[in-house]
Amino acid sequence: MQVTPWDVEGVIDYNKLIRDFGMQPFSEVLDEIDEPHILMRRGAIFGHRDYWRIVNAMKKGIQWAVMSGFMPSGHPHFGHKMTMDEIVWHQRAGGRAFVAIADMEAHAVRGLSWEKTREIGLEYIKSIIALGLTRESVIYFQSKSSYVKDLAFELSAEVNFSELRAIYGFNGDTKLAKMFITSIQAADILHPQLSEFGGPKPVVVPVGADQDPHMRLTRDLAARASIFSFEPIEGGLRIRSRKGKVYLEALSEMPLEVRFYEEHADIFGERDEIEEFVREIEVKLGGFAFVPPSSTYHRFTTGLTGGKMSSSKPESYISLLDKPEDGARKVMKAFTGGRATAEEQRRLGGQPEKCVVFELYSYHLIQSDEELRQIESDCREGRLLCGKCKRLASELVKNFLEEHREKIGEAEGMLEDYFIIM
Ligand code: TRP
Ligand code: SF4
Repeated sequence: MQVTPWDVEGVIDYNKLIRDFGMQPFSEVLDEIDEPHILMRRGAIFGHRDYWRIVNAMKKGIQWAVMSGFMPSGHPHFGHKMTMDEIVWHQRAGGRAFVAIADMEAHAVRGLSWEKTREIGLEYIKSIIALGLTRESVIYFQSKSSYVKDLAFELSAEVNFSELRAIYGFNGDTKLAKMFITSIQAADILHPQLSEFGGPKPVVVPVGADQDPHMRLTRDLAARASIFSFEPIEGGLRIRSRKGKVYLEALSEMPLEVRFYEEHADIFGERDEIEEFVREIEVKLGGFAFVPPSSTYHRFTTGLTGGKMSSSKPESYISLLDKPEDGARKVMKAFTGGRATAEEQRRLGGQPEKCVVFELYSYHLIQSDEELRQIESDCREGRLLCGKCKRLASELVKNFLEEHREKIGEAEGMLEDYFIIM
């Protein structure tokens, strides 16, 4: 198995991925969430980093944000729909939403022209609006946001080649633009915390597991680009300054107990509270005081034809822009977890865990847990055969695509009311 932002190969073992990358299992925070999304409940979202920051922010009613991005290199499909649904869910749960159209990435990595990235980018924007993103969001093309480009340059001062090589496997042939994109993405993720957007806050980034290297780099940069760093100690936090002692002295205005030492200060009290106070002080001193971003990781979408989904093989995925009949037809040809013959299927039952059609039901088409469980057990016990099952799924896909088309049409007329940096 190989998982990098530019290459996903082999059979994915998600538990191994959690271990290798050092993520946390999402099941650990699931119970803390009010009305979790189906992608959370049904295991599509399998991992996270620091999601507790978001849970806390929701509970305490402090401001937080959700941000993610889309590379406009091919049509938006059901894999992108996962990320879009996650952004919309978090927005409804109280997060301020930021959506990046990664045109700089598409241009640098995939060689797409700016005209093309704009045209495709708008399709993504219309789709996410059709899926429920409200006007209280910031949508932008990377190449048009000075917040992002300026911050990216600032962050790039903290990264050297050895680090990029270790994280991404870059080598002497890697183009500078491709390297710089890593700073751009870090800036995408951190810029909701700039003072122009209300200052430091928890930000959750819903992504596919392949994006984790970017999260690791960004979380490191969040710390490196900030003045104060935190380390838990008995009863509080130890604070160090990256810019020398003068800055430590500013902590004396804390309303909590502070003990000063040569190289650090120890502050006693509730950790969240200390962090918040220290960040406030840092902002006054002109620092970024970034909160390390949180993330959630969803599974890769299985290609309809079995193997992986590929934008160069339109039969391998359902695009959100497919004609409803085409989408329906693709479902009918999909690879299932069924047996070779009807007789065998009645005797042994199907294997929904290996079935692309079941994945569609579970992640996209069926909201009711009751209904989903019914299909699952009918399949497993051989009462449901794939032909009938696929006809139902293809009907649901057709309805979805019809409705989505309509909403895209409406979104087109509403674009002007949205805040879009383009
Ligand atoms: N690199 C992401 C992709 O290929 C797109 C992206 C750009 C992104 N900026 C982002 C994702 C910020 C999450 C956060 O899909
Ligand atoms: Fe998949 Fe449905 Fe066939 Fe079961 S019956 S394997 S869920 S298509």
